[in-house]
Formats: sequence, C-alpha cells, structure tokens
Amino acid sequence: MLITANDRLFVLTGAGISAESGLATFRGSGGLWNGYRVEEVATPEAWQHDPLLVWRFYSMRRRDALAAQPNAAHLALASYEQQLGDRFYLCTQNVDDLHERAGSVRVHHMHGTLFQSRCTRCDRVFPDQSFYESAAALPACSSCGAPVRPHIVWFGEIPLDMDAIDRQLNRATVLLVVGTSGSVYPAAGFVHIARQRGACTIYIGPEEPLNNGAFDQILLGAATEALPALLLHA
Ligand code: APR
Repeated sequence: MLITANDRLFVLTGAGISAESGLATFRGSGGLWNGYRVEEVATPEAWQHDPLLVWRFYSMRRRDALAAQPNAAHLALASYEQQLGDRFYLCTQNVDDLHERAGSVRVHHMHGTLFQSRCTRCDRVFPDQSFYESAAALPACSSCGAPVRPHIVWFGEIPLDMDAIDRQLNRATVLLVVGTSGSVYPAAGFVHIARQRGACTIYIGPEEPLNNGAFDQILLGAATEALPALLLHA
C-alpha cells in the first residue's frame, strides 16, 4: 500500500482497535461505558463527588482488560514497528495494555494507563493491578498517605506528554489513525496538524470518523482485517 520503509509512521489508535478483543467502545454503546455515564466516572468532579464509584468503574475495566487478548490489529502494528524501528511511533488513546502485550514497544498512552495508579498529593505513579470495590479498600499512598487515584487522563484534564506527540507529528510522513470516532480533542486534531505538515493521512475503521474530511484515504473495515492488509514496501 502507501507505506514504505522510508516513511516515518505515526499511528493513533482508539477504542475501536480493542473492540474485537471484546473491550467496549464508548460511543458504540450509546454514550455509556458499561452502563456508566462519562461524567459519573471519568471527570475530576466525579472523583471529588464519589471516589468509590470511580474506583469501582476502573476496577471493572481492569478486570475486563486482564481477561482480553490482543487481536490481529494489535499484532500487525507490533510487526510494523519491528520493520520500521524508530521510524514508527504509536500513540494510543486507549488505557488497556493490549498493544504492549502484542509486542509493541514505542507506545505512548496519551490518556494514561489502567494498570498504573497515582498519588493525588505527591503525584507518585506506580504499577497497580488491584481492584478497589469497597470504601474500606480505597487505596492510600504508601509514601504520604494521601488518596490514590487511577493514572487516567479524565475529561477536562491535559493528555500526557503533548510535547513528545508534537515532535513526532512534526516528523511523520504518514499518519495512520485506527478505530477512533474523532470526537475527543486534542487527538481528533492530530490529522489536521499532520496534514498541514505534509503527511499522508489514512483512517481505518468500520465507519467514517467525525473528522473524516481531513483524511487523504478512509479504509472502511474492521481493524483486524484492514490493518494486516496494509503492507509495507521497501
Ligand atoms: N475496528 C476499527 N474501528 C472500530 C471497530 C473495529 N473492529 N469497531 C468499532 N470501531 C470504531 C467505531 O466506528 C468508532 O469510530 O471505533 C471508534 C470508537 O469510538 P469511541 O468509542 O468514541 O472511542 P475513542 O475515539 O477512542 O474515544 C476517545 O474518549 O471515551 C473517551 O477518553 C476516552 O480515549 C477515549 C476518548
């Protein structure tokens, strides 16, 4: 297809790439995440109002992600990385770890990760696969004793390391976007930036994203079929 070994490939993935691993997308389920409204569980206000509900929600998502397996689309991206080395950069909006379990190494989780937690006072981030589902079990920081929250970027918060993303967008010759509805910024704006900087822009997913007008090519289809078919040419 369009990508050669001389390209610098920036890949942006969204919930759609993990859909075929059994993880629910947000907008595909009528604006609910497993029955929760986003304002109830994924905003700083939700955390202030009901940390137990927030932790129950993220505990459930931890369980779901632990039970899921990487699919052919995750594996295809890991193999493109092997071929392109540091000419490949993967930025994901997903908080699951399926890219890493498929073998991807250069992964930037711009919205945080399910399997890390963070102290609300000293900002210490640490690996965490636990479930917190009762008031008595709510976690506290082992260094300073303050409440611990999921290391997730909630609505209204700034995504992680936007500088690194910007540097990579600057150098990319191809932007490949997979399985995201194009409705949450800043990620939905990457295509405009890449295009302005002269990159070729490609979207893969079963339906057109909201920012469809900015793509040079839209390949309609499931990620597990369309991604492995994107051959790299020397
Ligand atoms: N292959 C590829 N794409 C798919 C598949 C599939 N098998 N199934 C569904 N999709 C597409 C849908 O067509 C939709 O466009 O995945 C997209 C999922 O969209 P959203 O649920 O809006 O997910 P996303 O765009 O990643 O959300 C962005 O918003 O929900 C918050 O912070 C959360 O990171 C998330 C952000």
